[in-house]
Amino acid sequence: MTRPIIIDTDPGQDDALAILLALASPELAVLGITCVAGNVPLDKTTINARKVCELAGRSDTRVFAGASGPLSRTLVTAEYVHGKSGLDGYELPDPVMPLQEQAGVDFIVETVMNAPAQTITLCALGPLTNLGLALQAEPRLGERLQEIVLMGGGLFEGGNTTPAAEFNIYVDPEAADMVMHCGAPVTMIPLDLTHQTLTSDAIIEAFRSMPNQTGPASAGLLDFFERFDVEKYGSQGGPLHDPNVIAFLLQPELYGGRVINVEIETASALTRGMTVADWWGVTDRVKNVNYLRHVDVDGYWALLQERLATLR
Ligand code: BDR
Ligand code: CA
Repeated sequence: MTRPIIIDTDPGQDDALAILLALASPELAVLGITCVAGNVPLDKTTINARKVCELAGRSDTRVFAGASGPLSRTLVTAEYVHGKSGLDGYELPDPVMPLQEQAGVDFIVETVMNAPAQTITLCALGPLTNLGLALQAEPRLGERLQEIVLMGGGLFEGGNTTPAAEFNIYVDPEAADMVMHCGAPVTMIPLDLTHQTLTSDAIIEAFRSMPNQTGPASAGLLDFFERFDVEKYGSQGGPLHDPNVIAFLLQPELYGGRVINVEIETASALTRGMTVADWWGVTDRVKNVNYLRHVDVDGYWALLQERLATLR
């Protein structure tokens, strides 16, 4: 049986590979892609999501525009990581497929509330604004979802946007706070895990040498994406964050973690968006998150390569 998912995203090169992995995987049915402002503004994320669907030969995928900015904060973007377009590194043609007319938040609410209970998984790859708005519109949404799997936060690795905060949570901490307490099972994939899934020359070459168009396009995107970390941190490659969300759905045995309490800092200016993760169980706060910390890195790259090779 295929697992129905909604992908909420702000592409972004790593979002792009996550979308490709989902579209390449027969175990998943992508009901729709809802875009949000994050890595780049909404007008670009909605274009980028459609470029990626067309690259995969899946222009039948429904792409929706969501929120153009956080619930109550000024939008922060990350062109310094992803380039001006958000998808710098490979020139993909402007999309021909239309953007859906329905608002992304309405699509989430309508789809989840009309489906049988606990059958839809929400895969969140960007700031959680769309989900926050959907929860404001329909507070029963959380208990109707099968699961929320999100890339965001960090404990042991600290933050990548401030010393305390990871980008997706930093951009919209109020939305993240709503998600952590919405009643859905939440699986969180933090920097502690994604900083292990680093690109390398050999990995990028494996994508470049695929005899299809998706492989070389992915290689171009990865080349650009890794340059930020290589130049800034002298690391071996760049951390390919977002495809971990999809890979976890496909092969959960690659992942390990603990169910713990995670709270979001929304009050302090200094630590805005910090994920206060009680890994050591030093509080008696309610355990609300499946916090993943370990990944079989070779298994992750093998899965990505095997699946993307099947696209056109
Ligand atoms: C997250 O922020 C974005 O830059 C990436 O797409 C990823 O979702 C990593 O902090
Ligand atoms: Ca993202």
